[in-house]
Amino acid sequence: MEQTRWYKDRVFYQIWPRSFKDGDGDGVGDLYGVYEKLDYIQSLGCDGIWFSPLYPSPGVDCGYDISDYMDIDPLYGGMEAFRKVLDGAHERGMKVIMDLVVNHTSDEHEWFQKSRRRIEPYTDYYIWRPALPGGKLPNNWDSQFEGKAWQWDELRQEYYLHIFAVKQPDLNMDNPLVREEVKKILRFWLAQGVDGFREDVITFISKKDGLPNDYWMPTVRGIFHYNHGPRVHDYLAEFRRDALSGYDTFTLGEAPLVSPRRALDYVDERRGQLDAMIQFQSMEADCFMTDYVPLPFSARRLKRAFDRWQKKLDGRGWNMLYLENHDHPRVISRYGSEKYRVESGKMLACAYLFLKGTPFIYQGQELGMVNWRPDDPDLYEDVQTRWHYAHMLSHILPDRVRLKWCHRSSRDNARTPMQWSAEEHAGFTTGTPWFSVNDNYRTINAAAQEDDPDSLLNFYRRAIRLRKELRVIRHGSFTDHAPLSGSLYVYSRRLGNERVLVVCSFVERPVRFRAPDGFDLSRAELVLCNYGAERSGNGFITKPYECRVYHFAQNR
Ligand code: NOJ
Repeated sequence: MEQTRWYKDRVFYQIWPRSFKDGDGDGVGDLYGVYEKLDYIQSLGCDGIWFSPLYPSPGVDCGYDISDYMDIDPLYGGMEAFRKVLDGAHERGMKVIMDLVVNHTSDEHEWFQKSRRRIEPYTDYYIWRPALPGGKLPNNWDSQFEGKAWQWDELRQEYYLHIFAVKQPDLNMDNPLVREEVKKILRFWLAQGVDGFREDVITFISKKDGLPNDYWMPTVRGIFHYNHGPRVHDYLAEFRRDALSGYDTFTLGEAPLVSPRRALDYVDERRGQLDAMIQFQSMEADCFMTDYVPLPFSARRLKRAFDRWQKKLDGRGWNMLYLENHDHPRVISRYGSEKYRVESGKMLACAYLFLKGTPFIYQGQELGMVNWRPDDPDLYEDVQTRWHYAHMLSHILPDRVRLKWCHRSSRDNARTPMQWSAEEHAGFTTGTPWFSVNDNYRTINAAAQEDDPDSLLNFYRRAIRLRKELRVIRHGSFTDHAPLSGSLYVYSRRLGNERVLVVCSFVERPVRFRAPDGFDLSRAELVLCNYGAERSGNGFITKPYECRVYHFAQNR
């Protein structure tokens, strides 16, 4: 079927279902809650939804440990509630993409239970290895969440590989039967009417032959032997050919450690294995490779990441744009300022929403939700955070320092319930919330922002509307006018004679901005800004975290 690439003109909203909205009062977000909020999502201007996993799951990694791929967890309302949401979204002209998590399953999945008992045809569905002499592990790889990447199974008397939690065994994608299962899953959801997939750590699905030791990477040993592995492109091409190509879809692959050059091997439109990638470089402007190795924020690093992807993919592949998701702390707390929460939140929106690509907004980002800092480490729910707190440098760092570390780096920062109103539990549930609500919900919530024209929520609405109205923002070329500046991001987009100029200050202190050559601000319309709009010649001195967006129409 013809691929119309409809995703290029859309703006997506990411729902992490557990914390979005509880509709049945059991304290856990669900699809009834999503259904109630479809109009809200539409009011933002979003016309696409990415659902983090909704399938039945023991919940060790909040749904990324799937025990049945062909169903919806009853906790979220089951298939019936899903149908209603899917139809409701389609009626509103929205597309819906599901999370496809096939690097691993839950250990409670029937396949794994049969595999550990060597019941055919499941024996080789996972990556099993005998112990080395002396009971040693098959290799030196680390898991990303819980110590070493191998777990001994008493029943089978072998080790199995788990790149993530112990309860997330890796599938053996080299087994053609496993690939048939993946295709069945794809076809099943496509037949239900979903419009595509966000593919979880999809670059991990092919491991290097022989599973060799890794002597390069000190913290996540092994990653160079399973990321972009030898057969990953064959497998993606196979999924496209046998399952996806019959539908007009959007496929978005999550890709840790990927350069834009390598990304083209996946997203070059002539190859068409994936449509876009979730890269991590724009999330590494204040850390080294992972959120747990913090560095001071550098606007230059952020700009460099955006610019490289904008330029390298131009005309060949498509970008996915984001600053938040369920795996990273809140962006205002990282790249902006909690003191200038609203101003910096607006500026950050401008820094990425007008780039070329498909923007994603993560639940609560549009409200300026910020990090959550519990006093008690036991309040953390995330498997990675809990392990990190208990084990990382625990022999030298006191508890309170490790707790501060989690405050800064934990994924749970982004997973507290959505703040709908100043009512009890932030209006998220009428029951007891499954997870702590951030104490600031009385001031930071959707209801308080709904009718305030200057709120962050309404700013997002205006920014998205602008993107929709101006083709130059969706399809124009990109130029960074001040790549060396450590405080300003000044970029433009151009389509024919039409241009848009975006000016963002990443700092509190005043900075002198002068329009780049060829841009006469007196001929432009100031279409979006986060402070008053006084005229100021062909430049101005910035206010804290100021942003402005100028539009130069065709004839100006
Ligand atoms: C990436 C997902 O975004 C994350 O939440 C999950 O824990 C891992 N993959 C493992 O599935």
